[in-house]
Amino acid sequence: MEDEISSFFESSPPLKNMKETTENLNQFIELNSSSSQGGRRIVCVTSGGTTVPLEQRCVRYIDNFSSGNRGAASTENFVKAGYAVIFLYRRGTFQPYCRSLPDDPFLECFEYPDKTNIQVHKSHVEAVKMAVMDQQAAVAEGRLLKLPFSTIYEYLQMLRLIAMVLKDVGPYSMFYLAAAVSDFYVPWDSMTEHKIESGSGPLDIRLAQVPKMLSILRSNWAPKAFCISFKLETDSKILIEKATKALQKYKVHAVLANELSTRKEEVVVVSSSGNVVVRRECDKPESIVEDNLIRLIVDRHSTYIKEYHS
Ligand code: PMT
Repeated sequence: MEDEISSFFESSPPLKNMKETTENLNQFIELNSSSSQGGRRIVCVTSGGTTVPLEQRCVRYIDNFSSGNRGAASTENFVKAGYAVIFLYRRGTFQPYCRSLPDDPFLECFEYPDKTNIQVHKSHVEAVKMAVMDQQAAVAEGRLLKLPFSTIYEYLQMLRLIAMVLKDVGPYSMFYLAAAVSDFYVPWDSMTEHKIESGSGPLDIRLAQVPKMLSILRSNWAPKAFCISFKLETDSKILIEKATKALQKYKVHAVLANELSTRKEEVVVVSSSGNVVVRRECDKPESIVEDNLIRLIVDRHSTYIKEYHS
């Protein structure tokens, strides 16, 4: 497995903003672990789906489904709970603090009464005000660092980088891996450079398996961090069994099991202390499943830190 992981990284195209990203990460971690901030806990929330390019000058790609809603809503709740959040997200997916905005905020939120003036439409003033205020406060207090990715190559290199720079934060760090990560990919070296031609009939592509990074994250990259992974299935009959197997195999602290069609209503927290079903509070229209979910995860993290020190 280690060989497969090394060869995945060795053959990956290098990250474009590696130097700048590393500097931003180091500054963020230094600020949040300093005593003036009371040594905040730091969580890396991953969000959105990774793409698998089929051509090096990519025109076509395979994608994994994820709107980014889970990651964005969880990020808001972690910030509310006092965490600093590294939000590793797929470009173009849902962002924290934007849930109450219309789907296309720029076109729907604003009006243009005369040539010199752009105004927020009355019906959206409150939502825009809250989104701007909350997001700016989180960034200004140094609680939110947003890092975008698109491809599986970018995602896994950035995850490894974050794990490395978070190593010294030890048990106060957490990985909350909500991103939908490709299981198959085309290795960069065997990928055609230019757009695949469509004139020569059906296309045969052989996809290699993306090595599962959870084992190495737990054993090597960030062994002291609290680690939460996800299990997504479309068949509810196999969901808990698969999540339980993942818990045992990858030795994460909990697996959050969700079924595609009910994921906004219900998540099952599968861990060695038993399974807990977390639901959205249906009698409260504003309630989202992440409110109760993150409360529970934060409690579990507190217990983990206490046990670590005892
Ligand atoms: O974004 P939304 O629309 O709100 O939807 C949220 C969600 C359903 C996408 C989210 O809640 C979720 O379940 N995310 C994980 C989906 C997924 O990829 O599951 P999986 O069974 O393929 O992977 C399980 C775990 O293995 C994941 O935590 C992943 O980070 C990890 N993995 C996957 C592939 C790989 N090569 N290496 C990995 O480490």
